[in-house]
Amino acid sequence: MPTQTHPFDIPSHDGRVSLIDEPTQNLPPPIFDAKQLEDNFARKGLSLDEMVTLSGAHSIGVSHCSSFSTRLYTFNATHPQDPSMDPSFAKELKAKCPPPPSSGNGPNPTVPLDVLTPDKLDNKYYKDLNNHHGLLTSDQTLLSSSATAGIVRNNARNDAAWANKFAAAMVKMGSIDVLTGKQGEGCDASILLDSTPRKPTEKENIANNPSLRGYEVIDEAKAELEAQCPQTVSCADIIAFAARDSAYKVGGINYKVESGRRDGRVSLIDEPTQNLPPPFFDAKQLEDNFARKGLSLDEMVTLSGAHSIGVSHCSSFSTRLYTFNATHPQDPSMDPNFAKELKAKCPPPPSSGNGPNPTVPLDVLTPDKLDNKYYKDLNNHHGLLTSDQTLLSSSATAGIVRNNARNDAAWANKFAATMVKMGSIDVLTGEQGEVRKNCRVVN
Ligand code: HEM
Repeated sequence: MPTQTHPFDIPSHDGRVSLIDEPTQNLPPPIFDAKQLEDNFARKGLSLDEMVTLSGAHSIGVSHCSSFSTRLYTFNATHPQDPSMDPSFAKELKAKCPPPPSSGNGPNPTVPLDVLTPDKLDNKYYKDLNNHHGLLTSDQTLLSSSATAGIVRNNARNDAAWANKFAAAMVKMGSIDVLTGKQGEGCDASILLDSTPRKPTEKENIANNPSLRGYEVIDEAKAELEAQCPQTVSCADIIAFAARDSAYKVGGINYKVESGRRDGRVSLIDEPTQNLPPPFFDAKQLEDNFARKGLSLDEMVTLSGAHSIGVSHCSSFSTRLYTFNATHPQDPSMDPNFAKELKAKCPPPPSSGNGPNPTVPLDVLTPDKLDNKYYKDLNNHHGLLTSDQTLLSSSATAGIVRNNARNDAAWANKFAATMVKMGSIDVLTGEQGEVRKNCRVVN
């Protein structure tokens, strides 16, 4: 069994919660008024001043029109437009945000939250509010409410004082049941938490269900560990060790894995949609997606080699066989004979959406071995997913594919190193999270 090291403080913690409704209960919606915001922050132990101070984070970033279009078009029975918004500002916003169509499916562009210095984190947000240029109800209400108007004016006057308060409040907020990174998004075993009837977790996301399997293997390892040393090895560590041992078993690839991860308490059904790349992504989109996790283009192509093992449901690539685009029903980047074989296994999906959904190997050459044959598949135009074949189609990655196809040992070395790196993304350590007793539920 390969060895393990302990770079993260020990013991490691598992999170305790994975709830679809979690954001609804905790994140204040953009329509809240100052009193509702105050109550919401108070439940997390944050004062009125800290609430107003933290709202200054809206001095950077953008908002979708849908978050404030009510203020422009359907405010209330007497005022279609929110009277607390400067009418000229409302006119400018209307030019960018058309009225939402009644079907609910219109375009939904974004606009800056802070019109004065949209790309700088500073106190100009409070000046926006003084000018009645707050974008969300929850922004402008801080000036409308007498309880908070004074704090807004003070923050608008003194950038340094606001910045100090902001830093302190951020530190305080950072220690409130927040893990590393966003909740339930890193290597914190949030994927293992079972849904409850009221609270669907990551497991239910279309990216994982029906694809992800093997939960029972983790359960077995956990049961054995709990019997011998209770609450010592986190579920997050067990996943990392299982990946390491699988790579050794099916590919002879051996690498050391650090331990000390702790388990998260949150698992949100929507989280995978924001983080996991879908199978129809092209090389550029994949590059951006991996870059957000600190992984390079080469590392992205190298890790994709994991598709030299395992299977995919037909639903993950059937568009490539039947409904590719207006001129080509079949993806021209796929070898036509290969497409014919796949069509025999994957019938066209019925329009009802409820047909059979069999699986086929991701790597036709050596389906049960973790090796570089996946890259040879791509050279043969036998990549199964768009996100596989695009690595050869894109000039930025084609050279890496060809090198990996030529040199199995070099690829295996890079793969091992990148698996170690991936296993330390957004981990919880020290006192964060917990060590779950049962990987499917929080303690
Ligand atoms: C490059 C972006 C990636 C995309 C878009 C992607 C997408 C997918 C999809 C759609 C499937 C088939 C799911 C199904 O239909 O059942 C799959 C399977 C798989 N993926 Fe990926 N994946 C990516 C990267 C990775 C990475 C980085 C790894 C690990 C290092 C990995 C490991 C696997 C494995 C082992 C399977 C087979 C699972 C099984 O046999 O049940 N994938 N992937």
